[in-house]
Amino acid sequence: MPAATPLLERYRDRLARPGEKFPVSLGEGGTPLVHAQRLGEAIGLDRLYLKFEGTNPTGSFKDRGMVLAVNRALGSGARMVICASTGNTSASAAAYAAAAGLACGVVLPAGKVARGKLAQALAAGARLVMVDGNFDAALDAVRALGESGDAVVVNSINPDRLEGQQTVAWEIADALDGALNGAPDAVALPVGNAGNITAAWRGFVAIGQRPRMLGFQAAGAAPIVNGALVPEPETVATAIRIGNPASWEGATAARDESGGLIESVTDDQILAAQGDVARLEGIFCEPASAAGVAGVRMLAEAGRLDRSSSVVCILTGHGLKDPDTAPGELGDLAPIPATADAIRDAIGA
Ligand code: F0G
Repeated sequence: MPAATPLLERYRDRLARPGEKFPVSLGEGGTPLVHAQRLGEAIGLDRLYLKFEGTNPTGSFKDRGMVLAVNRALGSGARMVICASTGNTSASAAAYAAAAGLACGVVLPAGKVARGKLAQALAAGARLVMVDGNFDAALDAVRALGESGDAVVVNSINPDRLEGQQTVAWEIADALDGALNGAPDAVALPVGNAGNITAAWRGFVAIGQRPRMLGFQAAGAAPIVNGALVPEPETVATAIRIGNPASWEGATAARDESGGLIESVTDDQILAAQGDVARLEGIFCEPASAAGVAGVRMLAEAGRLDRSSSVVCILTGHGLKDPDTAPGELGDLAPIPATADAIRDAIGA
């Protein structure tokens, strides 16, 4: 079926309950899978692919699970959805709730949410609160609210979210079917609350594919790598600034069952990878999204990935969401005369 078909209709046979209707769609899914030849050359991989989730309606992979969670909340007669978020979940929840005519509450860690994501939730009319605490504290509070029945929680502790997020695996498989004759050898992605690695692995297993799942946490927020909670997680990649992932066990199952790994990358490696993806492939992803690329580069350079292996990096969110950490410095660029000569000199044409 063409990609223009709404995501939940395209995969209705795997997702829908009998007779279920999905009235809400913003055109999610159908994101590009790009053969990254220049980046692959730089890293030493001939078959490196980027699945750019930034082209989803709200600019992140969250829309895949959110569309199912909000359709089901609407179908159950709910009036309000609520989530804790490092930013992208709230942007997605706010947008889908708006389209569904539901109220949306979002609970954010104060001072640590990228500007673009805040703007998205505000524009869609979400009721936004900042809490004095990190994402983990916000999620604890939201769980309690959910249990009291005040609103439907649309964090990834809602099983509908993970169900919908499996679609990224199915799209990768559909796109690579001809090119690779089967599954990629490995799929790399950032790990925060650990829902995405859990869902992507389940999605592959559901269609009989078993790529190695390579998860990467930020070094300052790496509870799964350390095997211990991180009470005060810190990283430039605010989307994955999480010290107590809700889907911890799902992530370790994905790692172990796939023969994969979960390791950490530093903020410097993350920012370098974000810059490489933009300069070599023309794709602007947010810092957290580059963690998978940084990890793959680290493995390839250490001789832990064969040049010929096929690797898909999932770029989870759009760079426009976080303009403050974008690569490149505008500096205090002084204006020059608006003449061809002056401009030619300045840009070295
Ligand atoms: N990449 C981006 C851009 C994210 O926003 C997130 C999570 C992740 C990766 C990690 O995915 O949590 O499933 O392991 N963002 C959540 C949020 C926590 O609130 O937007 P995960």
